[in-house]
Amino acid sequence: MLPQNDGGQTLSLANLRNDVIGIDTLVPLLDGNERPYVFLDNAASTPTLKCVLRCVEEFLPWYSGVHRGTGFKSLLATKVFDRAHSVVGRFVGADLTHNTVIFTKNTTECVNKLSNRLDFNGEDVVVTTAMEHHSNDLPWRKHANVVHVGITEDGHLDLAALKRVLEQYAGRVKLVAINGASNITGICSPIADIAEWTHAAGSRIFVDAAQLAPHRPINMFENDDPRHIDFLALSAHKMYAPFGTGALIGPVDFFELGDPDTVGGGVVEVVTFDDVAWNHPPHKEEAGSPNVVGGVALAEAITVLQSVGMDEIASHEQDLLRYALTKIKALKGITLYGPTDNLTDKVGVIVFNIDGMHHALVAAILGTEGGIGVRNGCFCAHPYVKELLKVTPQEDRELIQEVLAGNKTRMPGMVRASIGCYNNESDIDALVDMLARIVHREYKGTYVQDVASGAFHAQGYDFGFKKYFPFFDSVEPAYHRNYSEAS
Ligand SMILES: Cc1ncc(COP(=O)(O)O)c(C=O)c1O
Repeated sequence: MLPQNDGGQTLSLANLRNDVIGIDTLVPLLDGNERPYVFLDNAASTPTLKCVLRCVEEFLPWYSGVHRGTGFKSLLATKVFDRAHSVVGRFVGADLTHNTVIFTKNTTECVNKLSNRLDFNGEDVVVTTAMEHHSNDLPWRKHANVVHVGITEDGHLDLAALKRVLEQYAGRVKLVAINGASNITGICSPIADIAEWTHAAGSRIFVDAAQLAPHRPINMFENDDPRHIDFLALSAHKMYAPFGTGALIGPVDFFELGDPDTVGGGVVEVVTFDDVAWNHPPHKEEAGSPNVVGGVALAEAITVLQSVGMDEIASHEQDLLRYALTKIKALKGITLYGPTDNLTDKVGVIVFNIDGMHHALVAAILGTEGGIGVRNGCFCAHPYVKELLKVTPQEDRELIQEVLAGNKTRMPGMVRASIGCYNNESDIDALVDMLARIVHREYKGTYVQDVASGAFHAQGYDFGFKKYFPFFDSVEPAYHRNYSEAS
């Protein structure tokens, strides 16, 4: 059955927006008015689709622990959960006779798992890039010698440098780990070409598809195809199903070998006091009781995306990106980062700064006076953002000292607006209108900066969360020091 909206219509780009939970949710503005929230923070997490929630609600009466239960509900839940793995595998074009789909909690957990499962020796090199999210960088640093391939002036991966690195470390490259789309510039590197070069160098490739999977069709290709992606990871919360699931796809043979990285229930065939025989993947890699609901939700979200059409989604988001960049470029006093003209290989992420204004101040004004959800800072890709901002090594050292001393007021960064498939021109217009006000310094509030987090808030203004979310509890969060809301 094709996914449908509340009114029984098949979901398409034309009616998808109304299927977004919270699309009309009113949020307060500094001037005392309210407006429907403008959600332009999809690169962080997308909202939920109603049809995904409906699927979860329909599933919950049948919910039961999976795999070893004998009752009807457990048998049904097991079938649904196991099938969800195949839905994910097919979505990324994986050959499921040779590959397995492992559910995790997110992309970060996928990368950590893979890094724990690769059998590194002291000479091994992981080639990654200067444009990675920390999730596709720090896990490798724990295990291997990591080489970061640099970027070109406008933020693209330096492909010539990548080829040189593959030659330089010939025989030692255990893995090439690269994102499919950057969470900063939205740039999509040519992963099929890079896979070919990687395989020619006798190595394997991992693609962090956290930002690619919601926006572009993906093909991992047959395992014997030179363009084959060996390993790939994605996160459901960036794909309209924020119920705590991620997926790692990779060769079943690979995961048959060695010990799982996390052990406990579910991962074994037999256990004695002295010995263990592991279960087969994916079970071997999904220790403990799995997140069944999260898996079901992810599969439904994928079914919707496929039904709407990934090509249609890509084309709609490109149109919107072009529309947004044309309008933003027409405003004086805004610096955009990354490509702004050739958008073919770029998903809908827009990063910018307003001349003479702190990125956190701009983001705060957009939120407080415009009801617009964006994000600011370095977006878990500090090296890439600092390179794009041309922070010198000396400045960087000074800034790091300040941050470590508990002062984030000068932390470099950008503002990021990111597009999802349900966004439309009115969202972009709302952003551009507010940006026009900000560049002309026509915003209303007086904003003060918090030294520890670097975040700004409008003096004397309280968002009044309790009015909007009755379960809101004003108890302080249990963080201890230096909690950063803006990193
Ligand atoms: C490119 C990229 N990789 C990895 C991640 C980590 O994803 P998650 O937070 O779902 O683990 C993100 C999150 O923003 C990302 O943008």
